[in-house]
Amino acid sequence: MNISDLLESSRVVPLIQADDPAVAVETSHALAAGGLKVAEVVFRTDRALDCLRAVAGEVPEMVAGAGTVLTSKQAESALDNGAKFIVSPGLDDAVVAVAKEHNVPVYPGTMTPSEVQHAFNLGLDTVKFFPASIAGGVPALKALASVFRSMQFMPTGGVGPGNLADFLSVPAVLACGGSWLTPADAVAAGNFDKVTELAAEAVSIARTARG
Ligand code: 3PG
Repeated sequence: MNISDLLESSRVVPLIQADDPAVAVETSHALAAGGLKVAEVVFRTDRALDCLRAVAGEVPEMVAGAGTVLTSKQAESALDNGAKFIVSPGLDDAVVAVAKEHNVPVYPGTMTPSEVQHAFNLGLDTVKFFPASIAGGVPALKALASVFRSMQFMPTGGVGPGNLADFLSVPAVLACGGSWLTPADAVAAGNFDKVTELAAEAVSIARTARG
C-alpha cells in the first residue's frame, strides 16, 4: 500500500515526540495496539533521529514518517534513518526537493491560498493544513478545497476528539494529524495504556465520520 492510501485508511496520524528511543518504541507499540499504524516522529528533541531510527527499525507494525522537518539536511537524515514520508510545519522548496529526489511523499504545512498554490505548482497533491484550528478550521479548509479542487489536506494543529469528525467529514481531507494521541504527561508517566485508549477512540471516531 502506498503512503497516501495508508494515510487515507488510517485517517489519523499521531505525533511521537520523545527524548528516548525506547519511549518512542513503546509509544509506537501503544498506538498500533489502539489501531493506528502510521505516525510522525517529530524532530523536536535532540534524539529525534535516534527515535525515528528505532521506530522504523524495531516496530514493524508502525509506518514511521518524520515530522517537524525544517531543513533539507533534516529531510536527508530522516530518509537515511527509515522515514517513509516527510511532514513540515511550513512549505520549503528545498525540503520538498529532497523528498521528490527520493521519491518519498512530503506533506508541507500550508495555511494560505498562496501557499497551497505554491505547493500545487511544485507538483504536490497533498498538503498539511496548519495550524488547522487557528487558521480558520473547517470553514477555511472548505474554502481552500473549493478552489484547489484536486488538492488533499491533512489538518493538524488543534485537532482532537471534539473536532476530528468535523475535519474528516470534509471530502478533501485525507487524514488528520495531532499530538493529542500521545499526551506528554501520560508518556512521561509510562502510561501507555492511555495512548492505546486515545488511539482506539480516534479510530472509532474516524470510522463513524467516514463510514
Ligand atoms: C504539528 O507539528 O503538526 C503540530 O504541533 C500538531 O499540533 P497539535 O499539537 O495541536 O496536535
